[in-house]
Amino acid sequence: MKGIILAGGEGTRLYPLTKATNKHLLPVGRVPMIFHAVQQLTGAGIHDIMVVTGTGHMGDMVRCLGSGEEFGCSFSYRVQEKPLGIAHGLSLAEDFARGERVVVMLADNIFGASIRPVVENFTRQVEGARVVLKKVSDPTRYGVAALDERQVVNIEEKPQSPKSDFAVVGLYCYDEKVFDLIRKLAYSDRGELEVTSLNNQYIQLRQMEYEIFDGKWMDAGTPESWFEANRIFFEEGN
Ligand code: DAU
Repeated sequence: MKGIILAGGEGTRLYPLTKATNKHLLPVGRVPMIFHAVQQLTGAGIHDIMVVTGTGHMGDMVRCLGSGEEFGCSFSYRVQEKPLGIAHGLSLAEDFARGERVVVMLADNIFGASIRPVVENFTRQVEGARVVLKKVSDPTRYGVAALDERQVVNIEEKPQSPKSDFAVVGLYCYDEKVFDLIRKLAYSDRGELEVTSLNNQYIQLRQMEYEIFDGKWMDAGTPESWFEANRIFFEEGN
């Protein structure tokens, strides 16, 4: 199993904090935001990790993470020239991951409990993909899953009228065919290869499983949520 951390994008919602550095190098608690994703992957037994980020701050990223020795893992790096979407960023890891399953983390997602059970459940899964859901009060900010009694029937990206209050969090498990499926995607109206379209392909193949995350979860990509993530770390000692 390989790990992929997506740390590209322009961080516009956190501008001007992101004027001189990458969003994922801003602090959450006592460490840079991206450390949380690294610690989650290594804690789940994944030690071979590719970090994808933009041209602007790749140097800072390498200075911050290094070879991986400090974390007990090995890092590879790939540059995403333009923020063409989460599925596009993932596609850059094809050679790195060839023939293996992948666990993908968005570097601005902070989990208050270990992701290890999710990875273990995926290991037991015969094929396909696995997404993780969390009940939220503001589903219009996220990919939102419509569910029937047993499965995810559809995911909509930032819907105006959400079909549930279950957000799809930034932790995705995919089998070996993920890169073939990304090749079939078209760019969305906002000019991105969308992770939600990729997930809907697995749903159409009836190869998507899900679980609800049993712990705190945050997307720290806005000033308010970034502040809240820090508040939780300092006030609640997470
Ligand atoms: O946080 C969970 C949500 O993340 C999901 O519910 C949504 O379905 C998913 O689309 C995503 O929504 P965001 O609006 O938060 O996506 P954002 O553009 O902020 O990108 C999230 C992370 O992905 C960001 O920290 C960096 C990485 N990224 C993003 C893009 C667009 C890349 O590495 N490359 C990219 O081109």
